[in-house]
Amino acid sequence: MSTNPNNKKIVIAVDGFSSCGKSTFAKMVAARLGYIFIDTGAMYRAVTLYALEHGAFTNGILNEEMLVGMLDDIHIDFRFNPERGASDIYVGGEWVEGKIRTIEVSNLVSAVSAVGEVRKRLVAMQQRMGRDKGVVMDGRDIGTVVFPDAELKIFMTADPEVRAERRYLELSAKGEEVSREEIVENIRQRDHLDQNRAISPLRKADDAVVLDNGGMTLEEEMEWFDKVFASV
Ligand code: DC
Repeated sequence: MSTNPNNKKIVIAVDGFSSCGKSTFAKMVAARLGYIFIDTGAMYRAVTLYALEHGAFTNGILNEEMLVGMLDDIHIDFRFNPERGASDIYVGGEWVEGKIRTIEVSNLVSAVSAVGEVRKRLVAMQQRMGRDKGVVMDGRDIGTVVFPDAELKIFMTADPEVRAERRYLELSAKGEEVSREEIVENIRQRDHLDQNRAISPLRKADDAVVLDNGGMTLEEEMEWFDKVFASV
């Protein structure tokens, strides 16, 4: 187990591109330190699912006003799932883990995450969840907006082809019928939209350390983390 010299609980922000393995990495780090892992992408996905199921999309086009009008009715919470060693996300008490990671939601989530009012609410919720520290939070704006004072910021990246292959294997294993081309296209689009949206675009915080995990095994990623953590 890693210990940092002060043994004080800290906030660890893990940001980066889609399908970089941020969640896997963040989850392992949290388990290693006995910290809470929070997947903020799941929150944007959960809002997207709700919008989709409540008619805020017509032919893939988001009715922003309608979505903003729904926000008071969207109740998100996380509940620890010992089998996964992480928390599952619920909307209005319904377990939605299975529904939020489909290609359909992946294709619509960028539009929802570009809406200022959505970000404002989810960021406030994330800040509450990390108030007592001892959290590893993964997302796009954790080190820049949610916790600009996080003691450790990690920015993850890998080649788009490597990321697409990982996502393809993940979705195929779940039985979702999807082509490699569709996934590459989705990742390209999300990279573009994440980096170019007007509010809180994806960018590396100046004080973040970069982890390019393209050719790395999980074990190597953890060795890398141990070294970085020891120097905090
Ligand atoms: O990490 P993910 O792929 O599950 O995230 C889904 C989408 O949510 C992603 O396309 C961008 C958005 N997102 C965001 O805008 N800010 C975050 N902190 C986390 C995710």
